[in-house]
Amino acid sequence: SIGAAIHEKADCIYERLRTQINRIGSASGPNSHIFFVLGASGDLAKKKIYPTLWWLYRDGFLPEGTRFIGYARSQITVDKIFENAAKYMKVQEDEKETFAKFKTLNSYVAGSYDKGEDFERLTNEANHLSKQESAHRLFYLALPPSVYGSVSELISKHCRPKSPGWLRLIVEKPFGKDLQSSNKLSEHLSKFFSEEEIYRIDHYLGKEMVQNIIVLRFSNQILSRVWNRDSIAAVIIIFKEDIGTQGRGGYFDEFGILRDVIQNHLMQILSILAMEKPRSTKGEDIRNEKVKVLRCVAPIKPEDVVIGQYYGDKDSKDPEHQKGYLDDDGVPKDSTTPTYAQVVVSINNERWAGVPFILRAGKALNEKKAEIRIQFRDVPGDMFDDDNRASGESKKLSRDELVMRVQPNEAVYLKLNTKRPGEMGFSIDETELDLTYGERYKGVKLPDAYERLILDVFMGSKINFVRSDELEEAWRIVDPVLADIEKKKIPVIPYKFGSIGIREAFDVAAKHGYVFR
Ligand code: NDP
Ligand code: BG6
Repeated sequence: SIGAAIHEKADCIYERLRTQINRIGSASGPNSHIFFVLGASGDLAKKKIYPTLWWLYRDGFLPEGTRFIGYARSQITVDKIFENAAKYMKVQEDEKETFAKFKTLNSYVAGSYDKGEDFERLTNEANHLSKQESAHRLFYLALPPSVYGSVSELISKHCRPKSPGWLRLIVEKPFGKDLQSSNKLSEHLSKFFSEEEIYRIDHYLGKEMVQNIIVLRFSNQILSRVWNRDSIAAVIIIFKEDIGTQGRGGYFDEFGILRDVIQNHLMQILSILAMEKPRSTKGEDIRNEKVKVLRCVAPIKPEDVVIGQYYGDKDSKDPEHQKGYLDDDGVPKDSTTPTYAQVVVSINNERWAGVPFILRAGKALNEKKAEIRIQFRDVPGDMFDDDNRASGESKKLSRDELVMRVQPNEAVYLKLNTKRPGEMGFSIDETELDLTYGERYKGVKLPDAYERLILDVFMGSKINFVRSDELEEAWRIVDPVLADIEKKKIPVIPYKFGSIGIREAFDVAAKHGYVFR
C-alpha cells in the first residue's frame, strides 16, 4: 500500500542518515565529538537543546561516543539540568535504559563568561573525557547576546581542538539589534572564527514546510512556470501565536516582534520563496541566490507598516488572556514595543516588480499558525459572472491561492474553483486540492526543527544556516523602520488578546492587492 511504501521510504532515509553520521564518527575513532552547551542552566537549554540531544542520541543519529558538556556560571549538576529538562525530554518507559546511558555521557563545568582560566578548565575537562585533544568540538551558545562577544573570543583562544579536530560554533538569534550592532557582532566573530566555522541558527529553516519550498518550487513545472509577477498578485507570510510573551517580556521588550520574528524567520522564508533557481542544492549555491534576491528588496517604507501591542481580555475565562503585554513582569509599564507587526516588502527585479510581499507576525492572537499564501491574479475576462448572478451570488470569481501551512498540521493546498457538484449550469464552488501531511503521510515522524539543524551541524551542512551577508541584507531592509518605531513615528495600535489581528493591517494588505478570502 502507499502507506507502507511511505514508511519503508522513511525508514530507509533514517538508515541512510545514520550511516552517514556513523561514517563521520568512525572517521576519527570513538569519543570523537564533544558537544558543549554554553548557558546549560538556561531556558533554551532546558526546552530545546538538551531534549534535542537526547532525541538524536536515542534515535542513533549521533556519532558513536559523542560526549556532552554543559557550561554556565551556576553551581549546578547534570542531575539538576536533567531535572529541569525532564518535562521537555518526554522519555518513554521503554527508553529508560537508553536514557540512563545518555545521561552518563553528560558532564557539567561551572565557570564565568569572561575569564580565560575558566575556559582552560573547560578544555581540560573535554580532553579528559574524550582522552584526546583532537576531538571535534561543537559549541552551542545558548546565552544572552550580551556575552556572545567575550564567550566566543574565549572559546577561540582556549578551546580549539588539536588538528585534525574541527570546531563549529552555533550562534542563536538575535544576531544584533540593528544593522550596526549586527555588523559589529559579525566583525567580532570573524576575528576569531572563519565563516566556515559559524552556524547561525534560524530554527524556521529547520521546519519541514520551509525546507519543502525549494522542492515544490523547483521540481514542479506547473509551479515554476507561474512563479512570477505575470501570474501572482500578492504573497503573504503569516506568523500567529495564541500566547503572549509568557515571562520572556524582559528579553522581548528590548527587541519587539519585528526583530524577534520578521527580520529573521519571515525574511528567511521570503528569500527562499522569491530567489532564482540555485545552480545546485549545495549550501553556497542556495545562499548565494537568497542574498541576491534580498539585495533587490528596498528598505521598508513607514506607510507600509502597521504595528500593535496586545492588551488583556478582561472578559476571558483564561487568566493568561486577561493579562496584557504591559502586565508581563520585566516589561516597563509605559512600553510601546510592538507585539504585532505587518510590513509590505517590494522586490525590485524582473520576476517580482509590483508584487507585494506582506509579512505579518503577532503574539497573543486567536490561534497558533504559520503559513504562506501565494495569491494568483484574477482570471481575465471572467465569463462566469452572469451564471453566478443568476443563482443569486453577485460576487467575482475567487482567486486561486496556493497555501503552505508551516504549522500546525503541515499541509500544502491549492484553492481553486470547481463546478458545484450535482448542480445544473455553471455555478461555482471554491474548493481545495489538499495535501495535508497528517492524512497523506500518516505515521511519518517529522523531526523537530532543532533536531534537523543540530544534525546538520554534526554533518557540516550549512544549507539551513544564515550567512553573514544574508543577515546584513535582512537588517538593511528593516533598519529604517526600526528607527522610526524607536522614535515613535509609527502609531502603536492596541489589540485585544485572542483577536484575529489588527483591522488596519488587513486594510493595508487589501490596498496592496491582497484579497482576503
Ligand atoms: P536565559 O536568560 O535563560 O540565559 C541562559 C543562561 O545564561 C542563564 O541560565 C544564565 O546562566 C546565563 N545568563 C542569563 N542572563 C545573563 C546575563 N545577563 N549575563 C550573563 N549570563 C547570563 O536565555 P535563554 O536560554 O532563553 O536564551 C538563550 C539564547 O537563545 C538567547 O540568545 C535567546 O535570544 C535565544 N533564544 C531563546 C529561545 C527560548 O525559547 N528561550 C528561543 C529562541 C532563541 P548562569 O547564570 O548559570 O550563567
Ligand atoms: C522564536 C521567537 O524565535 O520563535 C519566539 O523568539 C517565538 O518569540 C518562537 O515564540 C516561535 O517558534 P515556533 O517554532 O514555536 O513557531
